[in-house]
Amino acid sequence: MLSSFFHPSSIAVVGASRDSKKVGYQILKNLLKYQDGKVYPINPSAHTILGLPVFPNLAAFPQKVELAIVAVPAPFVEQVIDDCIEKQVKAVVIITAGFAEMSAAGKQLQIKIATKLTEHHIALLGPNSLGFLYPTNSLNASFASQQIGTGSLALISQSGAMLTALFTEMESNKVGCSFAISLGNKAGISENEALEFAAQDPNTKVIGAYLESFADLSQFFQLASQVAKTKPLIVLKGGRSKTGQAASVSHTAALATNDVLLKAASEQFGFVMVDTVEEFIQTIFFLEQNKTVPENTMIITNAGGPGVNTVDVSEVRQLTLAQWSPSSVNNLQEQLPNSNITNPLDVIGDANAERFSFAIRQAQRDPQIDSIVVIITQQAVTNVPEVVEMLLKIKSKKPLCVALMGGDKFNSNRKSLRAAGIFCTEYPNDIVAMLAITKKAAEAKYFPEKFQPFRLQHDFPISHLATDLNATFLLLAEYGFKLPIYSIIANEKQLDQVHLPSYAKTANLALAHKKDMGAIFGITKTKEDVTNSFAQLKKFGETVLYQQIIEADVELLLGANRDVQFGPYLAIGLGGSWTNILSDRSYTFLPSTRRVFTQKLQQTKAYAALQKLDKKYSQKIGEKVITLMLQVQKLMLAHPEIQELEINPLMINEKGIWAADVKIKTT
Ligand code: COA
Repeated sequence: MLSSFFHPSSIAVVGASRDSKKVGYQILKNLLKYQDGKVYPINPSAHTILGLPVFPNLAAFPQKVELAIVAVPAPFVEQVIDDCIEKQVKAVVIITAGFAEMSAAGKQLQIKIATKLTEHHIALLGPNSLGFLYPTNSLNASFASQQIGTGSLALISQSGAMLTALFTEMESNKVGCSFAISLGNKAGISENEALEFAAQDPNTKVIGAYLESFADLSQFFQLASQVAKTKPLIVLKGGRSKTGQAASVSHTAALATNDVLLKAASEQFGFVMVDTVEEFIQTIFFLEQNKTVPENTMIITNAGGPGVNTVDVSEVRQLTLAQWSPSSVNNLQEQLPNSNITNPLDVIGDANAERFSFAIRQAQRDPQIDSIVVIITQQAVTNVPEVVEMLLKIKSKKPLCVALMGGDKFNSNRKSLRAAGIFCTEYPNDIVAMLAITKKAAEAKYFPEKFQPFRLQHDFPISHLATDLNATFLLLAEYGFKLPIYSIIANEKQLDQVHLPSYAKTANLALAHKKDMGAIFGITKTKEDVTNSFAQLKKFGETVLYQQIIEADVELLLGANRDVQFGPYLAIGLGGSWTNILSDRSYTFLPSTRRVFTQKLQQTKAYAALQKLDKKYSQKIGEKVITLMLQVQKLMLAHPEIQELEINPLMINEKGIWAADVKIKTT
């Protein structure tokens, strides 16, 4: 679908302006470089613009138009769209703002326009879009004035201004792109079509996406899990905080997305979420410039302190630090007798360009080193410009990142390194943060299973539905959960059924804060306790629950929920009295596999506790919990009536794993 935008034989700019300060002028100017097709300005009052003959409207234009770029004020857009339909154009970009992001009426108009175009099979980008760039064809169909060369980075952005900000940095960092697209309000093309294109585009090696909402999360996960196997997908999500959400709604009419779930989804489906614009830019630029993701990093510096701190931060960020190979150690010891041959390699405060050069070249030859971080500071003897000159001459096959400390004094030196395509920052920790993200991106490709959209298994034999507590207990038993012996008592006559001792609480599941309200009686040892407890608890609901007392070594929470955007997911973590204190939770989107459930359990604090139990009981408790996670998945697949299920605590002792308390919300 996106390809219909990238190779048009003819382009009309509707709203091309004579005024060089206007958007319609800049778009036309950018398009003059396009060689593979003709460009026509449309304007009711002009005769020529930028030397091109002008037509008053699309109808008056005698030839066919494949791509129309619309930059007229909002009230005229619908008429222009009707003209596009009449003209049978293939694709339309609406630059104009003032639609869904502005008002309810704007939203209505946007829907009307998008529906008309869909009915006529015309692709739409926008409205409220900056346009797009396809440098391979010298096609700049946007009002961004920067000159962006060809490269391997695909940029997908819901904010046009984010793109222009990136373009300026791309110019000075010698970063090119395969395509860049501003999605605007996403009434037509969304991130999913762009991702689909990027996935099969041979020029694209890395994808950076700035998104404020998702058109269809399930489709996004599906595409992300496919693309992540071959191309890193780095996502910066706008509108994650409450204030940010409010801002993004007015910006691009975005819908809020649950941030915690999104982070969990990124781990499961192989895309990498970054937190800041800086991380986003640095990661995608590095990946564009360096085709390999470094695994073992060597730090070379003339500044002991910053070097040590960089190593410290690397450890926190879980970067793998390289070790010099024995032959490197020999060579370095010979040439640098006053240095300890370690990581970081301190070439010492009196290092000149030659000494830096020797160490870097040794690192380049060393098979145990994948990437090199050079930290340069001004010292009495170190001539920084000379070191920079030396770096500019080094042809490094291994990723080389430079931290040039010293503030504004070295701005021009940093600039020349960046212009030469060398990754350069002021502080080394920015490099460490970026390398840690690229490491995550490299690992992400091993993670995603083949994504399968969630489908209810209607043919699954349902013996009974979860309708009340008793039915839910029976259902859990059917799915292999062990239950404490229990009685659900509705009136005094049934009290004889209660086993002693037992634990008494209301069977009213909907009730929150049961303990505070007195809806939990606790242990009943005698018949009298039973009678008293029933008298206390019956006012909280129609029935009272009496349960066998279980002593647990570990209490877990195992639950599942269905989210409107994310679909069903499972949650696991420490439960019982630890539930809110530790907020230990990891989420898995369903359906998933034993491998993923295992990885998700390993991310929790509960996992360490289970490992201890494995040893204590000489049993595979962790494995048993994973089996129960799979059983909850089965249950959610088969029981559409269950909106939310929470087994908390799931009590573990040597005799087994017990579903002691269950909360259920049915639809
Ligand atoms: N067909 C063709 N041309 C038309 C037209 C029509 N129906 N109606 C007006 N025009 C011409 C005008 O005559 C003018 O040309 P001129 O300057 O030579 O006279 C040109 O189109 C532009 O019209 P104008 O009324 O001057 O509008 P503008 O340039 O001030 O604003 C937009 C138009 C689209 C740029 C503006 O409405 C807008 O939406 N701006 C925000 C864009 C944006 O931020 N998008 C998101 C980016 S991330």
